[in-house]
Amino acid sequence: MTETDKSDPLAKAVKEGFSKTPKSIPSWTFYDEKGDQLFRDIMNLPEYYLTDCEAEIFQNSADEMLETFGANNEKFDLIELGAGDGVKTEILLKNWVNAGVEFRYYPVDISPYILKTLEKRMSKNLPELEIHSLPLTFDEALEGPIEKMNKNRKVFFFLGSNIGNLNRQQGIDFLKNLRTRMNKGDMALVGFDLRKDPRVILKAYDDSRGVTAEFNLNLLDRLNRELGANFERDAFSHFPYYDPVVGTAKSYIVSHKDQEVTFDRLKRSYSFDAWELIHTEISRKFSPEEIEELASLAGLRAVHYFEDKRSYYRNTVLM
Ligand code: AVI
Repeated sequence: MTETDKSDPLAKAVKEGFSKTPKSIPSWTFYDEKGDQLFRDIMNLPEYYLTDCEAEIFQNSADEMLETFGANNEKFDLIELGAGDGVKTEILLKNWVNAGVEFRYYPVDISPYILKTLEKRMSKNLPELEIHSLPLTFDEALEGPIEKMNKNRKVFFFLGSNIGNLNRQQGIDFLKNLRTRMNKGDMALVGFDLRKDPRVILKAYDDSRGVTAEFNLNLLDRLNRELGANFERDAFSHFPYYDPVVGTAKSYIVSHKDQEVTFDRLKRSYSFDAWELIHTEISRKFSPEEIEELASLAGLRAVHYFEDKRSYYRNTVLM
């Protein structure tokens, strides 16, 4: 790794990913300021059922969740990994704050912009809530401030099907890492999108308004701006598909023609054949058995779960 790679993870992601076949780029690169906003727009789309499902669960199960997490009314710390704008979580937090539950909230997100949005809204809507935003990667947060935190019981949230953006091994490693930070009595609530009608899933990643396409293609604008690339936006399009055999939605950006893209800041160019793909994201969907297997491979147990009425989505409690 060169010095530039260390200080510029985006440059490193391009150099590593574009040397693979097919070319790929990790999905965290979506989230610049515009990408954050586009993801929030996605969450409001009728086709993107995941958000409504999790909101429905929080609305209907806040009391039962409190029984699970607020054991013996002991003060606890709630650490949300990948909190985003926290709109859904706020439904639950509001209920708990109103019930006089004593807890502190630590939202962790790689994006400082989105944490500012969260903090501004939550401190207005829930002035009693103690919020400590951590604009860090999960590893930085888990190894740094969270490791050094007091001995209060900890509840970790990893919601919104973020776990679905990790491949099998990454998912196991993530949960293992979380397990090593958990003491006796600590818990994690993980949001899993369940397997369902493949047509419903595909539409969630191929919405009729083209917001998801815009979300993918915004990445090209980001590379142009931040790495001095010269991607021609119109010469590429978004291509999503869902493979129900393995339960994975995959997103690609496809090149419409033979073309060469120069990255001034990397001092190199990459050529694309007509219809060549850049893989941008996986979004895995789980069966209940796959959730249990994943938990047990990480040395955790799925002790409880909460589902929406349609059984599209499952928030699972791990210990
Ligand atoms: C953040 N993540 C769980 C979303 C998902 O469903 O995989 C990101 C997303 N990509 C396209 N639409 C939404």
